[in-house]
Order: sequence, then C-alpha cells, then structure tokens
Amino acid sequence: MDDVHGTPITFRTPDVRFGATVASEVPAALDRYGVDRPLVVTDEGVEEAGVLSRVTDPVERPVETHYATTEPGTDDFEDLPLDDVDGVVAVGGGSAIDTAKVAAVLAAHGGHPADYLGVGRVAGPTAPVLAVPTTSGTGSQATQTAVLAHEGVKRGISDEHLRPTAALVDPTLTEGLPAHVTARSGFDAFVHALESLTARDHRWVPERPITYQGANPVSRPLSRQALTLAHGSLERAYADGGDRAARRAMSLGAHLAGAAFSTAGLGVVHALASTVGGMTGRPHGECLAASVRPGLTYNLPARRGEYAVLARDLGVTEAATDDEAAAALLAECDRLRAALDLPGSLSDLGLGTDDVGAIVERTVAQDRRIATNPRTVDDRLRAVVAAAFD
Ligand SMILES: [Fe+2]
Repeated sequence: MDDVHGTPITFRTPDVRFGATVASEVPAALDRYGVDRPLVVTDEGVEEAGVLSRVTDPVERPVETHYATTEPGTDDFEDLPLDDVDGVVAVGGGSAIDTAKVAAVLAAHGGHPADYLGVGRVAGPTAPVLAVPTTSGTGSQATQTAVLAHEGVKRGISDEHLRPTAALVDPTLTEGLPAHVTARSGFDAFVHALESLTARDHRWVPERPITYQGANPVSRPLSRQALTLAHGSLERAYADGGDRAARRAMSLGAHLAGAAFSTAGLGVVHALASTVGGMTGRPHGECLAASVRPGLTYNLPARRGEYAVLARDLGVTEAATDDEAAAALLAECDRLRAALDLPGSLSDLGLGTDDVGAIVERTVAQDRRIATNPRTVDDRLRAVVAAAFD
C-alpha cells in the first residue's frame, strides 16, 4: 500500500507541559494567554481531595468556580458565572474538562449547549482554555470533543474550537485517585490507544468528519507508545495508587492516547460502549470493559494480522499462527479487565437478549465513531452482540 502521492494529514495539539510539578504553572500560563478573570471548572471530589487548592491557591486574581456534574448534560449550564470571564481553567477528569470546553463556547458565542451538538457547529474561537487533568483516562485535555447527555442519549460536540489552548499534565495530581476510578479511567485510555492504533487507514476514510482521519503516520507512533505505557502500568497503578512510576506512565499514556485518537478516530468498541452507556447509565470505563470482546471479535476479519502483531509486541503470546496470536490479544484484554475488577460482559451491565436489537441499531447509527472502524459496521454486528449473551 504505497502512499507515494502522500494523502494529507492534519495534526493539532494544545501547548503541552508534562511532568511532576507542572500543575503549579497555572499562574504563568494565565499570564502567557492574557487571562485576568478565569472561570475554574472542577468537581467536588477534586476539591475534597485537596487537589483543587494545589492548582488554584497560587492564582492571585479573581476566580469564579463552577462544579461540573459527573455525567454532564446539555441542561447543566444554566447557572454558569460567565460575566466578564476571559478564560477557563479545567481542574478535573473528563467531565470537568468537557464542561469547561462547553463553558468557553457559551461565553464566546452564547446560546444553549444543544445548539452545538454535532460536528463543526462552533462559529469561531473561544477564550483560552487551560486543562489540568486529575485522572489518567479520557485524554480530553488533548481533544476537540465534549460528551454531553441530551434527552437520555450521550452526544458529542466536536469542533476544532473546542481543543484546549494548553494542557498542564501533572502525574502527581493522580496519586490520590481511588482505585476504582484508576481502573475505569485507565481502561478508557487503554482502549483509546488500541482502537486508534487499529482504526481504518486514513487513506480509506474519504469523508473526514472533523479531524477523525483514520490511523495515519502521525497518530500510529503515539497510539503505540500509549498502548505500551497503559498495558505496562495500569494494573500497578490500580494495585498501588502511590506507585509514582506507574502513575507517571499512565498519565503520559492517557495523554498520548487522547492526542492520537483525536486525529485517528476510534471504532466499534467505543460506539458499543456509548450505546450501552446511554441504555444503562453505567460509567464509560465499565461500558468499554463489557464492549471490548464483542467489538474486537467483530473486527477480527479486518484486523487479525494487526492484533497478532500487537499480542507479540506486548509479550502476551508466543503463538506461531496469527489466528492464535490475535486470540491471545482478546484474551489479554479479558485478563486485564478482570484484574481491574471491571464488568466482564453486557449481561453484567444488566442488559439481556431482548436488548440485542436496540444495541445493534443504536450502534450502527453512530456515524462519527464507526467512520474510522476498520470493518464497516452494519447488521453483521448482530451476531457478535447476540453471542455476548450466550
Ligand atoms: Fe473513551
């Protein structure tokens, strides 16, 4: 598959600082971007853990604070203190960062969050957004998307104007995370790496929704490094939250995975997880854990060779045939999920055989996610979803 003519690739990233102590650089960043009256978006757990004060105490200027909900919805933005705000600082996990992105859009352009659902509906730039992640998971600090619940369905706002201006990624902020949050968010990062790495090749994604271009020469090395870091450190961070080397590896891995999937896109595992998340209200990381086997099984006819290479690279098989090695990658996902005490199946989320039709229908309808899946997602998905309940 020579690409001698060179299919163009777009790659965008916030200004990034990574490392222990960079969370203390918020005042300098606000100076650099000319922000005098920031809105801080966080959540109560981050404040109670003492993480918020580490970030905002040195900020010697008037600060408004907004507390994001765990699963933000389009109706959660009514009482935002946006008057005179000239920048937004997010201190939290994906929900806080996504809320901050939408707050910046509303401050710049007004209207209601529902007006912006979909792709490319933000009219122009926003005030600077500075993201300080406190989990190692969504990688939202690197992406151009916010996920919001709207009328009971998880929807996305995707637009280049949502990508944060800057990200300060400080692994020491994650050291006090509870183990179950480490597991859920870390599994999300692991799946971001795996799905972006094995997404449809960018040359075969002719209609490019925003910058989800398919796996490409820029995204693949980031995905591969993210996968190695997450696979090698997630269980250690789960078992011992104070393991600084593991926290650092997860923090970098989650960030790189976010940067990679924001240009490559994801696939059917995320589409399935988003469907069952809407149906059950269970956290994203749990829905991914239940969706990873059916999703990868669906993709096997298109990605057997790649899965086999990954299983060998990760050192989880010595199998001679690609069939066996690819099966070993799926088995390793199962083993990791079980080691993290995450749900093993769609039944564990409370779904049953009566739900198969709805799961397939709603997953096939997710154009944005499935456009970059390596195998066209259609009614053939029914067989693997039905098999998940056997
Ligand atoms: Fe995700």
